[in-house]
Amino acid sequence: MSAQTKVRNVTVATLQRMKQEGEKFACLTAYDACFAGILCDAGVEVILIGDSLGMVLQGHDSTLPVTMDDMIYHTECVKRGNKNALLIADLPFMSYSSEVQTLENAASLMRAGGHMVKLEGGAWIANTTRLLAERGIPVCAHMGLTPQSINRIGGFFVQGRDTDQAQAILDEAKQLQDAGASVLLLECVPRALAKKITETVEIPVIGIGAGPDTTGQVMVLHDALGVSPITPRFVKNFLLDSSAGIPGAIKAYVEAVKTSAFPADEHCFD
Ligand code: KIV
Repeated sequence: MSAQTKVRNVTVATLQRMKQEGEKFACLTAYDACFAGILCDAGVEVILIGDSLGMVLQGHDSTLPVTMDDMIYHTECVKRGNKNALLIADLPFMSYSSEVQTLENAASLMRAGGHMVKLEGGAWIANTTRLLAERGIPVCAHMGLTPQSINRIGGFFVQGRDTDQAQAILDEAKQLQDAGASVLLLECVPRALAKKITETVEIPVIGIGAGPDTTGQVMVLHDALGVSPITPRFVKNFLLDSSAGIPGAIKAYVEAVKTSAFPADEHCFD
């Protein structure tokens, strides 16, 4: 490939094709232009501008204080450093409570450079998903452990462990696909449930703490580099074994996702 050859942009269609062909894709969070460029050079297909920035950048103990202004600012930063990745931007806590508010806020994230917005919830976000999808805004529906609901859930617990709850998550995944979601994201669910959902829906599924069988994997960048204050069981520090610094660690993450070496058994929940 010549130095001038532009790498093809990753789109929703790319992720759909990868699912059909059984190819895994790698996603990491980024919040600034510098890391966005490093992630692209390492072959990361999807960059998530996550509201996790409230915890890893701003030092809050949850994602609830993150504002639309924060998300717009960091989406603009990532857009400037992005080369070819698909950018998913989080709609923060309480920014999709009414139809007008949802449309205005999602449009702001798309204008800032996002290619897709992510919102958290189950069946109750189906109408919101439809509202956005019908107006040309792709939606990633974040299910399982939804950190914006941490006060209702009562802690960062694995979701869908009992049969009824697992069935409810599966049913809601189908409803969100039918409502027009382009991608599902499953956080902290048993690997068997994530496998079942990934096999049941046609759209790509991104997992975090959801086992190795989803279409893609996501990790918070600071977790992958071992600089987060807390390290949940499902994360791995890829910088530990890197002889090529941060770029090498990110490349190792991409390689591990693509070969299904990550997540390993010790990163999964049953
Ligand atoms: O905000 C975020 O970074 C996320 C990931 C944990 C999936 O939602």
